[in-house]
Amino acid sequence: MKLNSADVRIPESSVSVYDAIFRRRNVKEFAPEPVSRETLERLFSAAIWAPNHRLTDPTRFFAVRKGSAMRKRIAAAAWQSTYDGVANPNPEQKRRSADASRDRVLNAPAMVYVYSLGGDNEEVTRENYATSCCAIQNMALAAVAEGLRIDWSTGGLTRIPGLAGILGADEAWTMVGVVFFGRSAAAPNTRRRPHSEVVTWLE
Ligand SMILES: Cc1cc2nc3c(=O)[nH]c(=O)nc-3n(C[C@H](O)[C@H](O)[C@H](O)COP(=O)(O)O)c2cc1C
Repeated sequence: MKLNSADVRIPESSVSVYDAIFRRRNVKEFAPEPVSRETLERLFSAAIWAPNHRLTDPTRFFAVRKGSAMRKRIAAAAWQSTYDGVANPNPEQKRRSADASRDRVLNAPAMVYVYSLGGDNEEVTRENYATSCCAIQNMALAAVAEGLRIDWSTGGLTRIPGLAGILGADEAWTMVGVVFFGRSAAAPNTRRRPHSEVVTWLE
């Protein structure tokens, strides 16, 4: 089944595209306030309209509900994987890092793993991955419109041993990241090189 672009219902928002682009920040701290399933559905509806060469619909999302058995299972696996991965031999330090990983998983109001499907060749696989990154950015911008922030990570939580099996993902898919969502009062400072330094105007 394919959705027809002519039938899309656009959620109302007073946040402009430029507001969303310039106000988006990757945050690490979330208020405990829940993110409703309805809100997440709107973010997913934005995600799937990422540009997509060949219309391969390559992105797969695993939304892990807060408080669910699956969230607890991933948290336990994250604890172990962090504990095993910490280079510092001090067991107290290892435990602190492992606890932090576990709590990050348990406490986030919303948590979504994102994978990208492989194509028949490297070119299509790369195009699919580009689409999946755009899908996450669509979610990040829609999240701003919803008064939310995201944390997109390709860190240790995406490298938990056996993760694909736990989620029910195909081992061959490419991990695009784990994305946390929630309300956040954090306003982290961030920087970019000015566009004048990275744009070449050609005549
Ligand atoms: C593909 C990707 C992977 C990322 N992985 C991590 C990560 O593993 N750990 C982390 O702290 N931040 C991660 N981030 C967030 C970036 O660190 C963040 O975007 C950067 O600090 C700039 O902040 P800003 O996006 O709010 O401007 C990731 C961002 C992207 C796009």
